[in-house]
Amino acid sequence: MPIRAFLLAASVASALLAVACAAPEAGKPASERVSALPAIVHPEGNPTSPAKVALGAQLFVDKRLSGTGNMACQSCHYRNLGWTDGLQFSRRDDGVLNSRNTPTLYNVGYQTAWYWDGRATTLEGQVLAAWRGQTGADPVKIAALLNGVPGYAAQFQAVFGAPAAPDSIAKALAAYLRTKNSENSPWDRYEAGDRMAVSADAVDGFRLFMGKGRCAACHTPPFYGNSTFFNIGLEGGKAKPDPGRFNVTKNEVDTSAFKTPTLRSVALGAPYFHDGSRATLVEAVRFMAAGGGDDPKKSPVLSPTGLSEPEIAKIIEFLKTLTSTEPWTAPALP
Ligand code: HEC
Ligand code: HEC
Repeated sequence: MPIRAFLLAASVASALLAVACAAPEAGKPASERVSALPAIVHPEGNPTSPAKVALGAQLFVDKRLSGTGNMACQSCHYRNLGWTDGLQFSRRDDGVLNSRNTPTLYNVGYQTAWYWDGRATTLEGQVLAAWRGQTGADPVKIAALLNGVPGYAAQFQAVFGAPAAPDSIAKALAAYLRTKNSENSPWDRYEAGDRMAVSADAVDGFRLFMGKGRCAACHTPPFYGNSTFFNIGLEGGKAKPDPGRFNVTKNEVDTSAFKTPTLRSVALGAPYFHDGSRATLVEAVRFMAAGGGDDPKKSPVLSPTGLSEPEIAKIIEFLKTLTSTEPWTAPALP
């Protein structure tokens, strides 16, 4: 029957609506992009544009931005490793070993506090700090260097109407980071109606994640993580515990509390936790399922879940379906 005929009959139309709500995008081809994420909100001082994002993509992989000329943002945030680096701790441009694990950059545009302890309150500010701290840059010197590269000078003119400056370099990088969204995963396609997108074990795993495992109390969909902070008991017993969020708030309850990371594309991002102490996803999930580690200051939200090994395996199957598969190629540099 033609759609028009349905719409004319009110009662049939409401029946159609009910069907549409139950399976909004049933039959959607897997090749079509599916997102469960809301639109990114860009800050007033840094509206986005395709040209700005393209410039940020180049800056992100360009080693000329670092103090030694040997390191780019990408040196610790690789696409194929879920924008992390596969190391427990990375070495900065100045040779100093970081004391925290490199987090993913996926979905950073949705956060409200950056770094494991949330000490950065704008993404632009975070980028400037990472640029100086991790890649050892003197921003004024590097801006001058970029202005000497005709391809960059022309792009900064076109995008910002001015030569490159520390502020505009950070803005272009931040605009680029706001495009790094982990979406269109098998799980997103499943939720959009493609019942063949994931295995039955993954569906069971999702139920356990939301139910018995109580994981979603903190790893809430659609990001499965957000800018909230908990002590999950990793620092208890260490000789020099990392104070974590306490450094920022000076609030006792934030002692050794760290940000709840997004679990989108988490399967790519080993090793896990702020201290990179768990080498595999199954070790990380076992730790959470046991209610975290031993620390008198651990969050009271955590307690043993009683999840069995087969149930943990199903949760892993579910988490693997959150991996996004967007294409990525390194941009050419001017
Ligand atoms: C030497 C390795 C290294 C390099 C190079 C590096 N980062 Fe990072 N990045 C880290 C580490 C480690 C952290 C976490 C530090 C912390 O939380 O205290 C981090 C955190 C971040 C975060 C915060 C993510 C979140 O969830 O809060 C962003 C954004 C980021 N880096 C972007 C960049 C950009 C942009 C560059 C280039 C200017 C860069 N990084 C270069 C290692 C690196
Ligand atoms: C009380 C809140 C809370 C609950 C409940 C919780 N998590 Fe977490 N989770 C966190 C925080 C906070 C971190 C990061 C802590 C750190 O590194 O110090 C984390 C880290 C993780 C990581 C490591 C991610 C990475 O990129 O390093 C995984 C995997 C994980 N959780 C899975 C789970 C699963 C599965 C469950 C349910 C069995 C669960 N979590 C329950 C708060 C929670």
